[in-house]
Amino acid sequence: MSAPRSWQRCDDCGHELDELDPRPRCPVCNGLLAIVHATTVSRQTFDQCASPSGVWRFADLVLPTAAPMAVSYPEGNTPLISRSRISDWCGIDELRVKHEGLNPTGSFKDRGMTVGITQAKRIGARAVACASTGNTSASLAAYAAQAGIPALCLVPDGQVTTGKLTQTLAYGARTLLVDGDFDACLRLMQQASVELGVYLLNSINPFRLEGQKTIVFELLRQLDWHAPDWIALPAGNLGNTAAFGKAIDEAMAHGLIDRRPRLAAVQAEHASPFAAAFAREFDQLVPVHADTIATAIKIGAPASYARGVRAIRSTNGVAISVTDAEILAAKGVIDAAGVGCEPASAASLAGVRKLRASGTIRPNESVVAVLTGHILKDSGILQQIHSPQSIAPDSANLPVRIGASVQAIGTLLDSMPIGR
Ligand SMILES: Cc1ncc(COP(=O)(O)O)c(C=O)c1O
Ligand SMILES: [Zn+2]
Repeated sequence: MSAPRSWQRCDDCGHELDELDPRPRCPVCNGLLAIVHATTVSRQTFDQCASPSGVWRFADLVLPTAAPMAVSYPEGNTPLISRSRISDWCGIDELRVKHEGLNPTGSFKDRGMTVGITQAKRIGARAVACASTGNTSASLAAYAAQAGIPALCLVPDGQVTTGKLTQTLAYGARTLLVDGDFDACLRLMQQASVELGVYLLNSINPFRLEGQKTIVFELLRQLDWHAPDWIALPAGNLGNTAAFGKAIDEAMAHGLIDRRPRLAAVQAEHASPFAAAFAREFDQLVPVHADTIATAIKIGAPASYARGVRAIRSTNGVAISVTDAEILAAKGVIDAAGVGCEPASAASLAGVRKLRASGTIRPNESVVAVLTGHILKDSGILQQIHSPQSIAPDSANLPVRIGASVQAIGTLLDSMPIGR
């Protein structure tokens, strides 16, 4: 068998570039680049791989030539969890959540970043950069620190949670607070990366997507390669939706699975240009001024729109929106089950419940909802719950102020339900 080979190809005009070509977009038409692999894999290829990383286990479909020099924490190997409380709430027996918040920096971004930073190192990038709602910057900062590459992050001023900003700064990335939203940051960073020659690691970077595909490969492997009927995920810039679509295509092409799971991309109501376009049969993207408590998906002009459309079409999927109140209600259920996640992640479960209620998902279908970020990513949500304008569910657990006496504790204990 010949050694696996990978290269880059333009989505729009098909122009091909070497795997090590550092240009961020197609030099002919400015289209987005994707990685193509000439290789043959089987389920055993991955079973036999000894890598401790849940990304590099799948190296043959990620970036085979880079595996020996991977900048890896390691990452991935996240659990697929069943909780009756969560499945009962959705009315679906076979519902699992895949907790990507249990990656090293607390979000799924680490899966793309290990590949993106490895590639940056291979091409000798002088610096790496991203625009971010906070999780990408935290991940970029950590992996750049490991690789010893200077990192630059542009984030919307006042719109990134303290935890995410703390991570980004602590790992040593130079962090610029921009007077504008995420979409403005991304426009600026794309321009700056070309003019200043820094390597852009937003999810339009094709190597990022190769890493993010492994969420799907890993969950399929955890299910013994029995594809679920549905995979639901929160959607913002649509990099992850695009990666999931590519992963499903490749899993089918290599015979790893024998049917395609349907993708359900879930957006927040006031940040939902993709769901709106889906409702109009994807006639066109109409960017919006995004607004939602789920800051990680507060994105109004998704950069990977065309790829997102392809992913939904090729999987016979759907794109829907849920309200902030529905997101908080779903988060309440996930948290109360002892699983926990950040608000944006809960959009996937809110979406599953809504699709079940509308009959799109049937009760006997199997579903995996991806939780993209850790519960500690957004502690500011507690202030939201406490505010007079709170839209949190009545069941929200609030702290109780007491006098310092055993009697006061006892009174409170008496008001609590008896343990099961
Ligand atoms: C926690 C979380 N969930 C979901 C998303 C959305 O992913 P994408 O922008 O690839 O659609 C993000 C993006 O920042 C995120 O941080
Ligand atoms: Zn092109």
